[in-house]
Parts: sequence; structure tokens; C-alpha cells
Amino acid sequence: MQLLKHKLEVNEDGWDHEIPTTYFSQPYGFIDCMEWVYNVLINPPVNYCCYKKSDFNNTNINQIIPQIRIGFIGDIMKLNGVEFIISENIKSFFSDTDLLIGNFEGTILRDSCKPVFMGQVHAESILEILSGFFPPSRTVLSCANNHSGDYGWTGFCSSYQLIQDYGFITIGRRDEPSIVIDGKVNIVSCTSWSNQKCNFVATIDEADRYFLDDAAFNILYPHWGYEMQLNPKLRQVQQGRELLSKWDMVIGHHSHCPQPIVLHENNLRQKLMAYSLGNFCNNKAIQGRQIGIILKVELGPDQSGAWAAGRVQWEFISISPLNDRSVELSISFRQGLPINGQFI
Ligand SMILES: [Fe+2]
Repeated sequence: MQLLKHKLEVNEDGWDHEIPTTYFSQPYGFIDCMEWVYNVLINPPVNYCCYKKSDFNNTNINQIIPQIRIGFIGDIMKLNGVEFIISENIKSFFSDTDLLIGNFEGTILRDSCKPVFMGQVHAESILEILSGFFPPSRTVLSCANNHSGDYGWTGFCSSYQLIQDYGFITIGRRDEPSIVIDGKVNIVSCTSWSNQKCNFVATIDEADRYFLDDAAFNILYPHWGYEMQLNPKLRQVQQGRELLSKWDMVIGHHSHCPQPIVLHENNLRQKLMAYSLGNFCNNKAIQGRQIGIILKVELGPDQSGAWAAGRVQWEFISISPLNDRSVELSISFRQGLPINGQFI
């Protein structure tokens, strides 16, 4: 499998320069900000699981000849020193995938930095944990999210480089927004939000620039939507439909809770939209609470030779406490409950 970063020229002076950060900075307008306060600080959803597994899980959504199998996880959040164990059932789920992609939410800092409100500082040990989970050379870490700019250009660059030093593939910097697999599949990282002023990550506003006409299949992997909302807002659903009129698949993240996975038919092909995979890891273990979704998709040509998605499989995941210091992430076999949510 050949993996090549797609490099772009950025025609904006100073995009790769330091912009001073401030202690308190957030991306939302007034109403969205008030909703964030309510949903995140005052009344987070008690049950993150918002919907049942739909009937197309573990089925072929299009008839194809599978060529590539890609695994997706959601937000990789800081662990605050918790010993984090990834169970064998999750490793087994991804054992047949060619490539894994996750959203690396935050910055690894080796030196102390001035504090930032809600700053996501990862310990370097997260890279050891991820290395033991899936081979780094086949793991793509998307670094375009609302926390990418928490510690400025300098913090971003040193963290981005360190992740690569461990052998992982990083994308999401504005001049390298995507990875191309075997010249056929283009996976694009981008974000709708940045807490701090930040010109150096790929944004959803520029997503069209990152689309490759000569790729057989273009996947958008955006950091979008809102935290702790079980369903996307109508305007995000509309944006999603527009994106799927161009992109072949959209797999999102940022909500920190699982959101719906749906199909949209386009030119007689079923296209997959996962609004948000929620979290892959975080530092809070609450028995039975489903924090996110792991997903894998087969891609390949259909009868006409055009590439499409074939078999789609996903599972909810949850974190259970093992003892005072250790937690385990595993597939959650509890059936989703149709509360507070619906199929869209
Ligand atoms: Fe986020």
C-alpha cells in the first residue's frame, strides 16, 4: 500500500507564523456558546447512546470488489495520567484493516506553556498507547481540530513533528491536508472550528481545494458540529447533504458523543455519512456510557468500475474502570437506546 501526503501551496502570507494565543478564546457565536455552557458544563446528556444500530451495519451498502479496508476512530483526547488499556476486541475489530485514521485532539508539550482555558495537553505516552494498538506506519492522525492552535504555531509544529518521529502519519496542517492511498483514495482532514486564532490548519471552508478530481474516492474527515449534542443541527444536516453531493463519504468528529450514521443515495450509489464518531479515548470512565463509535469500511470498484463503499461495520465503545488508576476501552455490546435521538 502506497501512502502519499497531498501537498498544497498556501497562498496567504503569514499562515505559518506565530499568532499570540490568549487564555480565554472560543470559536462560537453567543447562542452556540450558551448551548456549549449548558450541554458541556451544566447538563451533559446522561446517556450518550442516542440511537439503535441501523439495519445497514455489517452489510454491503453497494456491491463492489473490495480493494482497501479503512478503519476510523473519533477524538483522541488527553488521558491525564490514567493507565489506558485498549481491549483485544477493539484490536480484533481493526485487525483486517489496511489503514486507521483518528483525530488527534490536542498538543504534546515537552516544555511548560502558559495555561489556556480548556487546553488539551497530551502526555507523550499517548503515542506509546497508540503504537501498541495499531502500527504507526499505517495510522493517520488528523491534526486539524479546534484545539490545534491552543499552544500556537510553535506548539503545533513541535507536537506534529513528534507524532511523526514515532512513525505516525500526520495530516491537517494547511499545506498537507490529506493522505492519498495507492493514488486512489484521498482522505482529507479539516476543521470547522478553532478555539484560538489559527491560520495553519486545514479548514472546512477550503475543503473543495483539498478534493482530488483524479482520485477514485474522496473522503472528508471533518471536525465539525457541536459538543455533547446527540443529533446534528438542521444546518449541519443540510451542510452534510451538500458535501455528499461532491464527496464520496463524510466521517466526522468533535461531538464527544456518538451521533447518527446514515446513508444518502446519490447517482444510484449509497454514500455514508457518520456525523460524529464521538471519542476514542478520554480520561473519564463511566460504566456503561458509550463514548464513541469505531467504524470500518471496504472500498473498491463496482460493476461500472466506479469506486464506492461496500461493507460497513461499526461498534459502540465504552470505558470501564479497572482500579483506581486503570481503565479499559472496549466494544460496548449494550444495545443502543432510541432516546433523545432519531434516525435522520
Ligand atoms: Fe473538538
